[in-house]
Amino acid sequence: MKVETRLILGDCREKLKEIPDNFIDLIFTSPPYADSRSNTYGGIKPDEYVEWFLPISRELLRVLKPTGTFILNIKEKVVNGERHTYVIELILEMRKQGWLWTEEFIWHKKNSYPGKWPNRFRDAWERLLQFNKQKHFHMYQEEVMVPMGSWAEKRLKNLSHTDLVRDNSRVGSGFGKRVANWIGRNKVYPTNVLHLATETKNRNHSAVFPEDLPEWFIKLFTREGDWVLDPFMGSGTTNRVAQRMGRNSIGIEILPEYFALSQQSLQPVLEIPKQMVLLEEKGSYDAPHSE
Ligand SMILES: C[S@@+](CC[C@H](N)C(=O)[O-])C[C@H]1O[C@@H](n2cnc3c(N)ncnc32)[C@H](O)[C@@H]1O
Repeated sequence: MKVETRLILGDCREKLKEIPDNFIDLIFTSPPYADSRSNTYGGIKPDEYVEWFLPISRELLRVLKPTGTFILNIKEKVVNGERHTYVIELILEMRKQGWLWTEEFIWHKKNSYPGKWPNRFRDAWERLLQFNKQKHFHMYQEEVMVPMGSWAEKRLKNLSHTDLVRDNSRVGSGFGKRVANWIGRNKVYPTNVLHLATETKNRNHSAVFPEDLPEWFIKLFTREGDWVLDPFMGSGTTNRVAQRMGRNSIGIEILPEYFALSQQSLQPVLEIPKQMVLLEEKGSYDAPHSE
């Protein structure tokens, strides 16, 4: 199969306009953090973050297919001793723009650096906010099932009465579970917490995320031949993963040195034998923990 990868050098506020309406299946991106790395690539002030981001999210809404998904990797920084509220404000403003805030995933950074602060512990997680254009979007849940851990085997050997009948939610949400349904199965659906190490193979960019992160979302929300977009491409992690998984992609990066890193590792058009796509690398996500 033929996989296309379009790398664009420039400001995504301008370059997104070149993408047609309703073209993209998955947007996966990690924008610059508010101010924190201003010496590296011009951070945006926390108080101005929402105003800066909204014209970009408006374009993202335009280019995303109605069945598509937008995953935004972001974490609010601490300003004057408290967490800044720009992420919360951004969610509210994006909803006014027409986005649905469908879900929030947590990336638990398994190997965050030790440290000590007087009034907080070390930060070991980031948000992955999920936005959609409509309630019904493509989601291939079977693609991210995980092996049942040994905890589950133990749990299923000691079933209580409530496990054998449907255990209705005590908060009256109408949801329930029947643990016995999982006997004899060796895979379960994951939770919305991803346990991944921060380790990366690419040390030339200061804010690279691990390949397992885009890989998991690309599996969950796209099929081969679909289009993935990263408007803040950096070193091209999203595009590299998309390419090896047989997905077409577009990446936009403002800094020439980072753009060059992506160019070095990606070909504009690649012929992938079908069986190579099927043998794609397996991510190292952890099995879910006991409830
Ligand atoms: C957090 S980094 C993304 C790193 C990327 N996920 C990776 O794995 O390499 C954000 C990137 O956005 C780029 N950037 C900042 N403002 C931009 C803009 N207006 N348009 C396009 N890229 C921009 C920065 O230069 C930086 O490389």
